Amino acid sequence: MATFDEVIERRNTNSEKYDFAEEFDGDEQAIPMWVADMDFRAPEEVMEAVSRKANYGIWGYSEAKDDYYQNIISWFDKRHGWKPRQEWILKTPGVIFAISAAVRAFTEPGEAVMIQQPVYHPFAACITENGRKLIDNTLKNHNGRYEIDFAEMDRQLREEKVRLLIFCSPHNPVGRVWSREELLRVAELCLKYRVFLISDEIHCDFTYPGHTHIPFASLSEEIAGNCMVCTAPSKTFNLAGVQVSNIFVPDEERRRKLKRELYLTGYSELNVFALTACQAAYQYGDRWLDELLVYLRGNLSCLRQFLQDRLPLIRLTEPEGTYLVWLDFTDFCRERGMDEAALMQFLLKKAHVWLSPGSGFGENNGCYMRLNMACPRSVLEQALKQLEEAVY
Ligand SMILES: Cc1ncc(COP(=O)(O)O)c(C=O)c1O
Repeated sequence: MATFDEVIERRNTNSEKYDFAEEFDGDEQAIPMWVADMDFRAPEEVMEAVSRKANYGIWGYSEAKDDYYQNIISWFDKRHGWKPRQEWILKTPGVIFAISAAVRAFTEPGEAVMIQQPVYHPFAACITENGRKLIDNTLKNHNGRYEIDFAEMDRQLREEKVRLLIFCSPHNPVGRVWSREELLRVAELCLKYRVFLISDEIHCDFTYPGHTHIPFASLSEEIAGNCMVCTAPSKTFNLAGVQVSNIFVPDEERRRKLKRELYLTGYSELNVFALTACQAAYQYGDRWLDELLVYLRGNLSCLRQFLQDRLPLIRLTEPEGTYLVWLDFTDFCRERGMDEAALMQFLLKKAHVWLSPGSGFGENNGCYMRLNMACPRSVLEQALKQLEEAVY
């Protein structure tokens, strides 16, 4: 049995995904395939390193040494052909923590910040809750493939006087891995209108054959100076609860401003287990990740085939990256006379599967659900079987 086939009990572990159905409008009986963490254990070496640290028993204030940074740099070098500099790296307890601080550091209240919906929902909150103006450059769905509306982006950046773009690369939930050409066009527009770009690359390690993730700051020196790149081991190695992210800010002045804003939050250094887990993951996680990518590819084939053969009214948006799948239920809802709320109840109460409703990601023109397929194959198969039984 492959490691990832093991079904591990996650109930009664304080897991947000499993143990908080009431709080998050889910259902205890439903298979949880919503929040973006995986049902797999972290690599053995990470568990060992954290256990050693736990058993040591003294967990005083701790900081990262050069080897922490070197392991990160070497990961991005070998996996993404990009060699960031050590001094660019700021450590934060999360990517959203850093993005929210960056919104405050780089814009004034009332100024415009752009996102591209449908997109990971906390982006919108980082803008509106900080009193900035949200500008949505909605992605265009061309027969199931999402693309950037560059003409509209040009117009909005100019007319709305946008100061900051929060860019999701690879994109959650539509699964796009942006091509070099697309990235360059976005970068050019940002340089043209003096818009700083935050590239959230938390999903960068999950790409499918034929697609390569390109770190935004690797495009050119000039582009690097106009962006910050947000990364974390949390998606890649399933460490979300550990809370650690590494933010690359190549421009010295921008870095100084962001550092100051982070300081103002009262946050100063990472949790000792976060340092330990992050370092071990980037140092030893290669083989584990390679095996996981093969496994996820298998899950994707299984999902794609099942929908094609048995549930053709539910259309899969082919993901180029991430372990999240954006399912188009528009035809299904039309045929059944359902809106999104009715669909959600149907999925929870009849099919007993718990997905993330598309409206949570903002503008999407239809009826969508996001499915997290990072679970053992048998769990995915069970969910699909339940879905089919509920439909027919
Ligand atoms: C695009 C994106 N950014 C950020 C996060 C969350 O990152 P963090 O927990 O480090 O704030 C997620 C989690 O799903 C995500 O999909």
